[in-house]
Amino acid sequence: MDSVTDGNDKALSINQFLQALAMTLAVRNKDTWEHSVQVTKYAVRLGLRLELSVEEIKQLHIGALLHDIGKIGIRDDILLKPCALTEDEYCQLKKHPEIGSKILEPASALDCIIPIVLHHHEHFDGKGYPQKLRGEKIPFLARIISLADAFEAMTSDRLYRKAMTPQHALEEIQLQLGRQFDPYLGKAFVKMIKEVDFTL
Ligand SMILES: [Fe+2]
Repeated sequence: MDSVTDGNDKALSINQFLQALAMTLAVRNKDTWEHSVQVTKYAVRLGLRLELSVEEIKQLHIGALLHDIGKIGIRDDILLKPCALTEDEYCQLKKHPEIGSKILEPASALDCIIPIVLHHHEHFDGKGYPQKLRGEKIPFLARIISLADAFEAMTSDRLYRKAMTPQHALEEIQLQLGRQFDPYLGKAFVKMIKEVDFTL
């Protein structure tokens, strides 16, 4: 089935499908949705500075909005836990990239988004998850979202900890260049944030 039609023969477009999917995440977990919107802003801004193609920017936009869609498959007692997770709970949470990729799998128009969702927690040194990809084996757009994701997470309050200052978060990113993050993209990201926030 390529499309869903109503009496007026209006096809369910991929955009409408994406909006419905995004709304599912917003309803399931408002914090994750708000995080994804902020991650999208940082990721697209970096993509524009790197002069990516229109198509890549579109993929970055959709990939960032949906990077954590798999969290709709994570239990509330883990997703909403107000303190640090146990090792077992963390293992459950770490399944969200694979759950997200399964959710998108039936929509062939989103084939190019799946690698972003699946690999946004890989680390440049190969110590991330789910597949321990290393360096440039990690899809390029996933490496951008990894930076935006980490910066947004560090500078936001969580149920179990207070937000870091942007300055502190940038220092953490710099420490992780070549480890968690792509050094080239990481330097570009730090420069971009410093230019946007002149207090840094
Ligand atoms: Fe994630």
